[in-house]
Amino acid sequence: MTKFPIFLSDSVQSIFFKLVFSQSANNIKSHFRMDKTWMQELKESPTSMFLLSLSAYLVYKIGCDLLRKDEPPPKPLEPLKQDMTLNELKKYTGLDASVDKRICLGIKDEIFEVTRGKNFYGPDGPYSCFAGREASRCFATFSKDEDDIPEGRDDLTDLNADQKSSLNDWYENISSKYPKVGKIIYTPEDEIKKTK
Ligand code: HEM
Repeated sequence: MTKFPIFLSDSVQSIFFKLVFSQSANNIKSHFRMDKTWMQELKESPTSMFLLSLSAYLVYKIGCDLLRKDEPPPKPLEPLKQDMTLNELKKYTGLDASVDKRICLGIKDEIFEVTRGKNFYGPDGPYSCFAGREASRCFATFSKDEDDIPEGRDDLTDLNADQKSSLNDWYENISSKYPKVGKIIYTPEDEIKKTK
């Protein structure tokens, strides 16, 4: 069989040729009859409409494949391994190009890279308030209010049993899904700012 000069599996090529050059030939001829416009013909023939849509889809796919071949694949980033202060963690909200727009969050004083979950934690995500923060209190109290996260160290001693259990469940969830980066380093200033 005649081959396309680009990558397409044999089965896709075979379907394309059969549809476009054999079965559709009669339909195409009738499209150009003078007594009806091709638009009317199309409306009256679901088969033709289907074949035309399929052809348009295949042309679109071929175009996309060709364009994609020209793009270099994105460079995979090295795993991030680093203990951080609360201040350093603040950069990791998905907006800072100096840290490759990575996203990290803290839970139970450990840092996880959640860039893979940017639909959740990225700037437009529903949980963007956790990005770049030690968000244990929000996980414990099931809150999305960033005002619940203190500026300094949060010792969490006021949490009740249910809240501690909720925090532990979220820790299991996050730590099973995302790579660990390191631990939070608390500075003397963070201890002073401790509010809870
Ligand atoms: C009406 C309230 C809420 C609804 C309907 C809701 C619903 C959802 C849904 C459907 C997902 C996606 C789950 C998945 O695809 O795996 C999700 C993820 C998540 N939710 Fe909520 N949520 C709500 C409130 C909250 C609150 C208050 C928190 C605060 C702790 C929260 C924390 C999260 C987190 C952290 C994730 C992402 C987990 C991951 O990284 O995979 N959600 N939520």
